[in-house]
Amino acid sequence: MCGIIGMASKHEFGSNDIIKMLKRLEYRGYDSFGIVTDKGMMEKEVGEIKPVKENRCSMALAHCRWATHGGVTRENAHPHTDCTGNIFLVHNGIISNYQELKNKLVGHKFTSETDTEVIAHFFEESLKTNDIKSSVLEFFRIAQGEFAIVMMLKGDKNLYALKRGSPLSLGLLDDGNVLASDIYAFSDKTEKAIFFNEDEFAIMNKDGYEFYKFLDNMLKPVSKEITVVKWSGTEEKNHFDHYMIKEINEEPEVAERLINSLRTEQKPGLEKLKELIQGAKRIVFVASGSSYHAALLGVYFLNKAGVEAHAVIASEFRNFYLVDDKTLLIAVSQSGETMDVIEALHGMKAKGAKIASLVNVPYSTIQRMSNVSINIEAGQEICVAATKSFVNQVVALTYLASVFGYEKDFSKIPDEIRDVFSQEGKIKQLAKSLKGEKDIYIIGRGYLYPVAREIALKIKEISYIHAEGMMGGELKHGTLALIEEGTPVIALIDNKPEIISNVMEIKARGGRIIAVTNRDDERFQESIRISAHNKFPFSIEASIAGQLLTYYIAKEKGLPIDKVRNLAKSVTVK
Ligand code: G6P
Repeated sequence: MCGIIGMASKHEFGSNDIIKMLKRLEYRGYDSFGIVTDKGMMEKEVGEIKPVKENRCSMALAHCRWATHGGVTRENAHPHTDCTGNIFLVHNGIISNYQELKNKLVGHKFTSETDTEVIAHFFEESLKTNDIKSSVLEFFRIAQGEFAIVMMLKGDKNLYALKRGSPLSLGLLDDGNVLASDIYAFSDKTEKAIFFNEDEFAIMNKDGYEFYKFLDNMLKPVSKEITVVKWSGTEEKNHFDHYMIKEINEEPEVAERLINSLRTEQKPGLEKLKELIQGAKRIVFVASGSSYHAALLGVYFLNKAGVEAHAVIASEFRNFYLVDDKTLLIAVSQSGETMDVIEALHGMKAKGAKIASLVNVPYSTIQRMSNVSINIEAGQEICVAATKSFVNQVVALTYLASVFGYEKDFSKIPDEIRDVFSQEGKIKQLAKSLKGEKDIYIIGRGYLYPVAREIALKIKEISYIHAEGMMGGELKHGTLALIEEGTPVIALIDNKPEIISNVMEIKARGGRIIAVTNRDDERFQESIRISAHNKFPFSIEASIAGQLLTYYIAKEKGLPIDKVRNLAKSVTVK
């Protein structure tokens, strides 16, 4: 969370050029934003990134915030500065011992509640008696937590960048250099990038850069490799009202692209992953949010193919898992930057586990940590809620299961996805009738249980309605007590007789059944029609029906949709 940028150029540029780059990082946080230039202009504002006062400059820092320490206020927005106003910095991460550091900075005047401001005062104090390298060294020694920091000192031609935990990359421009949380910030300007590794420090200016590594309590110079990166993505919503609906509409096309690439250029990667799976004693998926739900589906289809695997939520990984050098961890992550997943991988890599991943954003931290990585080819996803990336994760995981014999005809998938859109009119009507609800339950059995959970997550985060995705068979063990006259229950109904029994139990108590089904059955009062008869396409079609329903409920309610409250797309804190 939080996006940071620092740029130095041989030619003057405008403050709004930086703001445009920052806009490409807005998915990392949109509570507030701020900018400072070497010509003395500083602006900070609560809310979405907007154009600022034009200021020609040759160096600037910018930041978009997802609040962790301190409320969403102008004072807490970055850049932060010291008592003298000579040091400016932007930060992504959390300095977990900031209070301890703050207590030692006696006499300093703090104007925000953030952990970040402590860093500025730390450098103010340290630079009184040390040069920058010694101060940075001291910071690496004493700071705890995660940080990607870019710092500018008044009257100094350099920018200073430090990385521990949080992602940071350097883009090499024709007329200067740019530091950013990820390459998407500058991928329309250059294909040349350098990725910071753990505990690295860089001094950068318009003419060049030097890298150092904090190792053995010293800063040692390191040479860095330049990677050629290609990551375009689109910033346009085209004729759509929101990115969410645009991205849902892209699903047939991105699924087709993925299937083609798995058959061709990604085939060697898939073969390597197959070998790793065959050579492993234990296979564990690790993921968060929607990616975890995709992993649960992947586990189901792999199990069907005779491969034993488990899926574990990343933030709880260390509490559940015994991992050794015979373990294969498969990370599933859209962004490739989720801190909980990275933490789980780091810990387990140290134990000798092998790492594989399915990632959407290329060159991301998780992809770079992996022995083998499959790209899910969904393209840039801008809406905070995962839609097309979820679908492609499921396609990729099922394709992996098919390598082990879970045979499926992938050629029909794009058309089966298109079929869901024939239900859009009906879904809009349903959305109107659901917008005033306080609770919605979603039930599914077997492979439709992860789908039920995914639909519930979407309804919560986008439509702001409490929703619970459950195993159909579990309802009678407690939750049935909450079913009253008219309580809406979305039932994912394929050909299992047991789910019909669950539906009848709900109906008997006055519950309102909305069936997502491929069956004609007059007992369902309301339904969304699924064309697929096989499990894999059914799971995808039902998920998309849930995405559309969620979108139209939120639209009916006039909610922000693409940038929902309190969340961010890339969660780079623990
Ligand atoms: C955040 C996003 C979710 C996403 C989750 C995992 O919470 O809002 O949409 O599913 O992170 O992200 P990842 O990038 O690892 O898939």
